[in-house]
Amino acid sequence: MSSDPRRDWEAVDRYLTRLLAPADPVLDAALEASAQAGLPAIQVTPVQGRLLQLLACAVRARDILEVGTLGGYSTIWLARTLPPGGRLVTLEIEPRHVEVARANVERAGLSDRVDFRLGPARESVRRLIEERRQFDLIFLDADRPGYPDYFRASMELSHPGTLLVADNVVRNGLVADDSCDDPQVTGVRRYLELMAAEPRVIGTVLQTVGEKGHDGVAIGLVTG
Ligand SMILES: C[S@@+](CC[C@H](N)C(=O)[O-])C[C@H]1O[C@@H](n2cnc3c(N)ncnc32)[C@H](O)[C@@H]1O
Repeated sequence: MSSDPRRDWEAVDRYLTRLLAPADPVLDAALEASAQAGLPAIQVTPVQGRLLQLLACAVRARDILEVGTLGGYSTIWLARTLPPGGRLVTLEIEPRHVEVARANVERAGLSDRVDFRLGPARESVRRLIEERRQFDLIFLDADRPGYPDYFRASMELSHPGTLLVADNVVRNGLVADDSCDDPQVTGVRRYLELMAAEPRVIGTVLQTVGEKGHDGVAIGLVTG
């Protein structure tokens, strides 16, 4: 705890997690298995997982697209909200991540509603467009340089009422630093510019602080 508890983001995150997203054997087992498999611990936090659930429930999502599976932690948070017959498609480039995520999702009893697609997400979204798929919620959490392409694809994979959620769009404030030309940052900057310029989307960004530092999540609603 820092000397000024009001500034201790991690302590507040722990408090909020205990209160709003307490220990869950299935989710905890997924984290444990991912760690044992050597996957990086870059999944959403429990409180962010709860936000994803809340958003999916708010739009009564039956079809969800996730870009960036890792070990399936956010996949489980989201897939749990699906009604009978609902589907979640999750895109991942690393075969090992898909292997671990499959086992985690199976242990969560959600295999019947999760469709894993292995390969570069740019190719996977193109295939989904060819399949004429439509999603009620699209969650981006993969390579940031790809975000502008994923935004354009999202517009083809959505309908009025679709929620577009993109994680890690503030990156310790670098998004607002014009001198920063890191592709991780320019990718999210371009994503935000596209969202802001798109008349069919009402969008905003919530800055977040917590165990993952200072970041933000972009939320856009497709209106037309
Ligand atoms: C931040 S992690 C996803 C975390 C996950 N959404 C969660 O919260 O549990 C990003 C994932 O995107 C994957 N990824 C990176 N570039 C990709 C690409 N071009 N296509 C598909 N997946 C990609 C990485 O391998 C990694 O597993």
